Amino acid sequence: ALVPTGELVAEARAAGRCCPAFNVIQLEHATAIVAAAEELDQPVVLQVSHNAVRYHGALEPLGAAMLAAAGAARTPVGVHLDHAETFELVARAVALGFPSVMFDASALEHRDNVRATARTARYCHDNGVWVEAELGRIGGKDGVHAPGARTDPAEAAEFVRDTGVDALAVAVGTSHAMRTRDADLDFGLVERLRAALDVPLVLHGSSGVADADLRTAVRAGLTKINIATRLNEEFTAAVRRSLADHPDGVDPRRYLGAGREAITRETARLLAALNGA
Ligand code: G3H
Ligand code: ZN
Repeated sequence: ALVPTGELVAEARAAGRCCPAFNVIQLEHATAIVAAAEELDQPVVLQVSHNAVRYHGALEPLGAAMLAAAGAARTPVGVHLDHAETFELVARAVALGFPSVMFDASALEHRDNVRATARTARYCHDNGVWVEAELGRIGGKDGVHAPGARTDPAEAAEFVRDTGVDALAVAVGTSHAMRTRDADLDFGLVERLRAALDVPLVLHGSSGVADADLRTAVRAGLTKINIATRLNEEFTAAVRRSLADHPDGVDPRRYLGAGREAITRETARLLAALNGA
């Protein structure tokens, strides 16, 4: 069933667990992730990024499919807009029925980030939508890794107060789109952020973090764990193998199906590693 992301995050936090959020690029991602959640009987969040929306040309077709997949799921599934860079896209997601969004104005000057994020948060709250924002600029989205970026706890507390956001993405040693799982997390900073902030903290670029460090990060107080690249690596490897095994095939269902199964396997593995008994 579709469950508001804010509820999933709050429940995970109260239970000392995490709320894993996986990025969806095409329909196969959504159905594969939901299949893994059902297999492990655990909640998940399906999220679509502004970049993926740009790829499709619009939010609505894939967004509606994600909402439908969540609604039909046997486990609680959140649907979230990830890294939205414009108010207009946030408004489209709200109109479509997304229960949560991330507004990412981290590329703007600090004062402009505060102003734009506060406006977006007000609009979302007026519509019952949960809002995540980012402070500290987690790198890697443009292909330039910046694992050295850090969120300052005092500045973060002020940002949350001035914007009214419900959750904060923090820079603590990760970078987006890492292909190696050797990010060096700053656990001391996570503790200081946790002490300075009441809202749940979000880890972006989690593909670059080893399973054991992810578990430590959750214990230290990072609640929403965003994972994208790890699933795409498995998807693409499986598609490559399928195409090599069947060089004369033309039916996309064969290789997309292989990719979909690979996403389910990796999602299930991650869910067990993060929130397993
Ligand atoms: O917002 C999405 C995440 O931060 C995913 O990052 O591709 O490095 O796992 P990742
Ligand atoms: Zn991210």
